[in-house]
Amino acid sequence: MADIFDLTVIGSGPGGYVCAIRAAQLGMKVAVIEKWPTFGGTCLNIGCIPSKALLHASEMFEEASTGFAGLGIKVKPELDLATMMGHKDAVVTANVSGIEFLFNKNKITTFRGTGSITAPGKVLVTPEAGAAQTIETRSIVIATGSVPASLPGISIDEDKVVSSTGALSFKAVPKHLLVIGGGIIGLELGSVWARLGAKITVVEYLDRILPGLDSEAARQMQRILQKQGMSFQLSAKVTGVVTNADGSVTATVEPAAGGEAKTISADAVLLAVGRKPYTTGLGLDVVGVALDERGRVRTDGHFQTNVPGIYAIGDAVAGPMLAHKASDDGAAVAEIIAGQSPQIHYELIPSVMYTNPEVAWIGKSEDELKAAGIEYKIGKFPYTANGRAKAMHATQGYVKVLADATTDRVLGAQIVAKNAGEMIHEIAVLMGFSGAAEDLARTTHAHPTMSEAIREAALMCGDGALHI
Ligand code: FAD
Ligand code: NAI
Repeated sequence: MADIFDLTVIGSGPGGYVCAIRAAQLGMKVAVIEKWPTFGGTCLNIGCIPSKALLHASEMFEEASTGFAGLGIKVKPELDLATMMGHKDAVVTANVSGIEFLFNKNKITTFRGTGSITAPGKVLVTPEAGAAQTIETRSIVIATGSVPASLPGISIDEDKVVSSTGALSFKAVPKHLLVIGGGIIGLELGSVWARLGAKITVVEYLDRILPGLDSEAARQMQRILQKQGMSFQLSAKVTGVVTNADGSVTATVEPAAGGEAKTISADAVLLAVGRKPYTTGLGLDVVGVALDERGRVRTDGHFQTNVPGIYAIGDAVAGPMLAHKASDDGAAVAEIIAGQSPQIHYELIPSVMYTNPEVAWIGKSEDELKAAGIEYKIGKFPYTANGRAKAMHATQGYVKVLADATTDRVLGAQIVAKNAGEMIHEIAVLMGFSGAAEDLARTTHAHPTMSEAIREAALMCGDGALHI
């Protein structure tokens, strides 16, 4: 008789691979099924990692083109896109091979193919070629992630009309890239191509970019990105895209509320209007696993679906579609299956947009506090008053700390700054311990650092900042 696994994980993204490793650490006999040729899911193959490789490389190009001269460095950089793409591919390969190494190290059995659940405790693996086989298992974790959402009238060919996947691999810099959706993907990948010379037009359905982010930070980022050459058409929707005989594309754009349509010509279109959970081919209807109204696998507070022994995590379930959220889900569900009682503080999951400057945020935005009728104090310190930022020519942005008006407890924060993504975590730890703005303000911060602005913003929730 074939092995019976304690746990079978379907999908090897940051949710699935972390779940498998944590379960193996806890002594379980673990199987992972992955249908793609490499492990690591969206994040490592076509998401977080390749996008950050291109964001870094394009930022270096931009710095060399426009930033070095002011520091007394004379250069005339020339773009070698093929090598830049080679850098991105090498980073992806190193990361996905790292997962393979970790699976081997943790004695996790891997299966290549599409996993579908035929009954509780049974998963059929169908490889691209060769015979299918059934795995027997005590528990199953669905970690099948998400795919780009589509719009009627727009078909993705990953050449001229691309999703994020195609936008990570253009063979030449498009002269004009039309981005549909002013969310994180549109602005990160728009930034990459803008820095490399593309004209970028962003069409956003709402009257603001970056829904979910504090509206002051969103307005500030729109101004900054406009200065970097991006143009925005807000309260507008693209209703159709056609590819012309000469290879150009024409998009039809209408006001979101309806009205006269106009057209925009471009060399390529990036469709980035969100992502949707991916459960196709999993056989959930066969075993009766329920989905919610948005197609996400429905789970209780312990990742358990309505079918005993079948759990789900990451982008396939409700919550922010972020790699670190998926990984935290993955570790927690492994611990739950092992009989432990982990807890994730979903209200303390940080978000980061890796533009220049970066935007990092956690907890409540000012808009949310206002809507909830919570009395709050604001400490907002600009980077123009930070010594390190001046030394680095990185004075764009600010730190905003929001604290309860009565108790001083920090309720949320936004940082717009170079390396904001590295700085948000001191606020995450503070909020994890229910800390007050005064706790932040009394913590010694090394000088000169960008993080000193966080302390100054916290001081502004009390008697006031020292350096402004
Ligand atoms: P996924 O990573 O999507 O992995 C799912 C895996 O399951 C895939 O490998 C898929 O092949 C496999 N699979 C699906 N169905 C089956 C099946 N039936 N059988 C076998 N295998 C199957 N998040 C961040 O936090 N930071 C970022 O900087 C960031 N950047 C991003 C940039 C881009 C361009 C994109 C698209 C996303 C980005 N994200 C980022 C989001 C992040 O990638 C996702 O939140 C994360 O990958 C979700 O992890 P997951 O494990 O739930 O699913
Ligand atoms: P998003 O939800 O961030 O943004 C989509 C945008 O498209 C929104 O502003 C929305 O209002 C707009 N939109 C929706 N329909 C539209 C229409 N018909 N016309 C014009 N605009 C329309 O989704 P995005 O950017 O596709 O990213 C998907 C997810 O991937 C993110 O929500 C995030 O979870 C994850 N991600 C995270 C990153 C990070 O953490 N740095 C980077 C990239 C992606």
